[in-house]
Amino acid sequence: MTTASADDVGPTVRVGFLGCGTVGAESVRILTQRREAITRYSGVDVEVVRIAVRDLGVERDLPVPDTVLTDDPAAVVAADDIDLVVEVMGGTDPAGSLVAAALDLSKPVVTANKTLMAADGPALLDKARAANVDLLYEASVGGGIPIIRPLTETLAGEYVRRVMGIVNGTTNYILTRMDEEGAGFDAVLADAQALGYAEAEPSADVDGHDAAQKAAILATLAFGTRVHDTDVPTEGIRGIDAHDLGLGRRLGYVVKLLAVAEYDEAADAVLARVFPAMIPDSHPLANVRLSYNAVFVEGESAGRMMFYGHGAGAGPTAMAVVGDVVDAARNLRQGARGPHVSRRALHGIKDGADATSQYYVRLEVEDRPGVLAEIARAFGDHGVSLKSVLQEGREADAELVMITHASREADVDAAVAVAGGLDGVENVAAVMRVVADEDA
Ligand SMILES: NC(=O)c1ccc[n+]([C@@H]2O[C@H](COP(=O)([O-])OP(=O)(O)OC[C@H]3O[C@@H](n4cnc5c(N)ncnc54)[C@H](OP(=O)(O)O)[C@@H]3O)[C@@H](O)[C@H]2O)c1
Repeated sequence: MTTASADDVGPTVRVGFLGCGTVGAESVRILTQRREAITRYSGVDVEVVRIAVRDLGVERDLPVPDTVLTDDPAAVVAADDIDLVVEVMGGTDPAGSLVAAALDLSKPVVTANKTLMAADGPALLDKARAANVDLLYEASVGGGIPIIRPLTETLAGEYVRRVMGIVNGTTNYILTRMDEEGAGFDAVLADAQALGYAEAEPSADVDGHDAAQKAAILATLAFGTRVHDTDVPTEGIRGIDAHDLGLGRRLGYVVKLLAVAEYDEAADAVLARVFPAMIPDSHPLANVRLSYNAVFVEGESAGRMMFYGHGAGAGPTAMAVVGDVVDAARNLRQGARGPHVSRRALHGIKDGADATSQYYVRLEVEDRPGVLAEIARAFGDHGVSLKSVLQEGREADAELVMITHASREADVDAAVAVAGGLDGVENVAAVMRVVADEDA
């Protein structure tokens, strides 16, 4: 092991924190308590010298003197003794203007804030580029899983085709328990809330908005296209029935909420979306259980890679923050900055209706001759062919479970609408995308 000498280390990089809650406090602890080891490994000395919080009256167990704390975040950004700013307060206001102010002062910024990066990331990265300093945000997607740095640096020469992520631990926890226990969504959500895996107001997670922010960041990184979270069509998991998870298992599939960003070469456009999907049980993402996250990257040269770990929590997220702080501090001392965005020229953003996918469709039907033929005709008339059909039950309780071949999604929607209106069809019970077997 090489040890950095005092000559290698150079002047201390003085860090100001904006926020010191779950992520901030753990980051301050690691930077302070492991300062010497970090210097030895990285060759850069980092000291936390100011911390802004909202409420100075809160008791905090921090390894720094109380005099470091202030309730004036703008003063931390502007202070002459702050070289580098860490934003871990969350939200877009005032976090966005504080980050912009730091970059305007040519101070590198590290943030864990997916809401800010999904809404204003491209503009803030432009500002960082103009100031020739870093804006690093590894913790904003996948918590402690290194994914931003692999996409921007390790895979700089890769031609990424698709990125698929399980990027929301709450929904993965709920779907895993529904799958393994056969329990309904409402019961598992209530239990997840009681156990602290889901918020009292769960919409950001279960309706897919948190995953959409991460999909926008991943799409921007993987393809160099400026994708905002408002560009990401989003479906959550509220409508998922445990019965479909059971049927999916029998057919060899597991249901996951996916954030998918893909490049369509023919259209020269990027499509980023969030939706629940059936994935083959042999796919690496199928084994990502409970609150774990994973990001699966498909590249032309390196092939298929999966990055797996804890997507949230104080320790994992702080580790990503600390890694960025060390990186930004080292770059600052060397007068350099890391890469920002990205590999290809700007493309358009693709309309989801033109996307193609296999589908799982479950219909409740009358069990009488001719119904299946009418349904198959409705699908065939829209150019959607059926890969497999499973008929369950008899008479009043009959249901038809179909997996389609890859088809244009707008055509599947139209075929399902027609099939749903047929006399022999009582109800369209479930429609879900299927990640193709050949992708497993
Ligand atoms: N928690 C996770 O597992 C996780 C994972 C990945 C990413 N993130 C991201 O990390 C960021 C921080 O999350 P967190 O869970 O650490 O949040 P948190 O526990 O709520 O902490 C927020 C901190 O910011 C301070 N703050 C908020 N508004 C402020 C203001 N206007 N002025 C000064 N201080 C202010 C709060 O002060 P007080 O302490 O006085 O209230 C608190 O210290 C968010 O962007 C979040 O999305 C979190």
